[in-house]
Amino acid sequence: MSLLARLQSKNQPENTVEQPIVKEQPNTDKALEAKIEQKTEKITAIPPKKTAAPKKKEAPQVSDEYNELKTLTFKHIIKERQSEDVEAIVADLDTIIEEILKENEHLDGAGNLDKLKAELTNDLTGYGPINPLLLDENVSEVMVNGPKHVYAERGGKLELTDVTFRDNDHVMAVLEKIVAPLGRRIDESSPMVDARLQDGSRVNAIIPPLALNGPTITIRKFSKDPFTIHDLIRFGTLTEEMAEFIKACVEAKLNMFVSGGTGSGKTTTLNVLSSFISNKDRIVTIEDAAELQLGQDHVVSLETRPPNIEGKGAISIRDLVRNSLRMRPDRIVIGEVRSGEALDMLQAMNTGHDGSLATGHANSPRDMISRLETMVLMAGMELPVKAIREQIAGALDVIIQQSRLKDGTRRITNITEVQGLEGDIIVLQDIFTFKQSGVDDNGKIIGKLVPTGIRPQFYERMEHEGIHLPASIFTEKEE
Ligand SMILES: Nc1ncnc2c1ncn2[C@@H]1O[C@H](COP(=O)(O)OP(=O)(O)O)[C@@H](O)[C@H]1O
Ligand SMILES: [Mg+2]
Repeated sequence: MSLLARLQSKNQPENTVEQPIVKEQPNTDKALEAKIEQKTEKITAIPPKKTAAPKKKEAPQVSDEYNELKTLTFKHIIKERQSEDVEAIVADLDTIIEEILKENEHLDGAGNLDKLKAELTNDLTGYGPINPLLLDENVSEVMVNGPKHVYAERGGKLELTDVTFRDNDHVMAVLEKIVAPLGRRIDESSPMVDARLQDGSRVNAIIPPLALNGPTITIRKFSKDPFTIHDLIRFGTLTEEMAEFIKACVEAKLNMFVSGGTGSGKTTTLNVLSSFISNKDRIVTIEDAAELQLGQDHVVSLETRPPNIEGKGAISIRDLVRNSLRMRPDRIVIGEVRSGEALDMLQAMNTGHDGSLATGHANSPRDMISRLETMVLMAGMELPVKAIREQIAGALDVIIQQSRLKDGTRRITNITEVQGLEGDIIVLQDIFTFKQSGVDDNGKIIGKLVPTGIRPQFYERMEHEGIHLPASIFTEKEE
């Protein structure tokens, strides 16, 4: 979109804007807020990553004069400066505002000029009113529910911010700006879109008439420094012994699977596991939306592609897994296995691609196994169950079960060895488990992560690889 069009779409006076038809839902806002509040994650155990979140400011009062000055400035820019670079205009904002104030004496004292300048700059160069939230390192997620309700998550807590847009068109203008550079579009014919900001943050947008509150944007900000194993130990997600164990598993090139529910921290744990991969290995990562952040030198990141508007051209995880086998990978890391790609992954694991890592959605290691069986069937090969189980038992070495407990904390509740096939049954053996002993007065779950006392069968194999784990990590420590 040209600068002119962009500014015009942003700066129409409210009363002349033709509003998209949005059904009035007087009570939904409240209900929705309540719902969101309920869903708010309470990660109380986690200290905020950076400094404490600043106190929420009172919404500043904005005078009519202030709004008039802003509108006049926009009009001036559209009329006089439209051919210039945005940067040049921004650099000149002081002069422009001064000129307008000279011509309109009644606007003297219209309010905070610094604020005006910041807002104009945001509209011209950034993502409008939400720009400050995107720049704020304490904010991990930004949610726009129509122009007047913008939520942000800070340190795991969701809160309503004082940020507002003028109207639906203002939100749409910002959306345009997000999706246009990616060659995507958002309008009535394609009212939902997934996109990514330049810094890697993920954006989902859905607009009226599908979204009743107005254009709705959900942004999961790219975390500049992802959690490390030390963070996870500090949060109580796992113990030092468990950390030592999984590190050894990765180094011994075992095939590992992280299982858990949505938001349980699978991707985070996968990222931590991947960080233990040797810097000498060639790593191919395969994801729906690139979230992994690996520090190694030799990483090839692949991402799936949704179908285009005609419904063609989609590239699935499965396509990418197959392709990756021809890329001479030392390690294949798959963001999430959901469907037929499970078969290709298992086959890869069984044919020399050791040390592969992946995640999947399940409530327990046993559940993960049965889901994998279903996923393999989705590949459409009509394999007998016994053959599928042989594949799974032969391929997988370790399942790490991750859970988000009722009190909001994330734990690795099982580290389980896949021992093999006995008759028709895949034999699983927990090496570490979470023993819950109760719930305290604040609803916090009390429990301990403990070794079961059983050494994994691959212990010898690890020793062979020259990876030595003290036997003591498999026995529970005395209090
Ligand atoms: N061990 C953990 N402790 C606390 N918060 C975590 C932990 N792991 C992940 N998170 C947070 O939980 C959210 C979801 O994590 P993610 O790894 O994307 O989950 P999943 O892949 O299971 O959906 C993120 O905001 C992340 O920062
Ligand atoms: Mg994930």
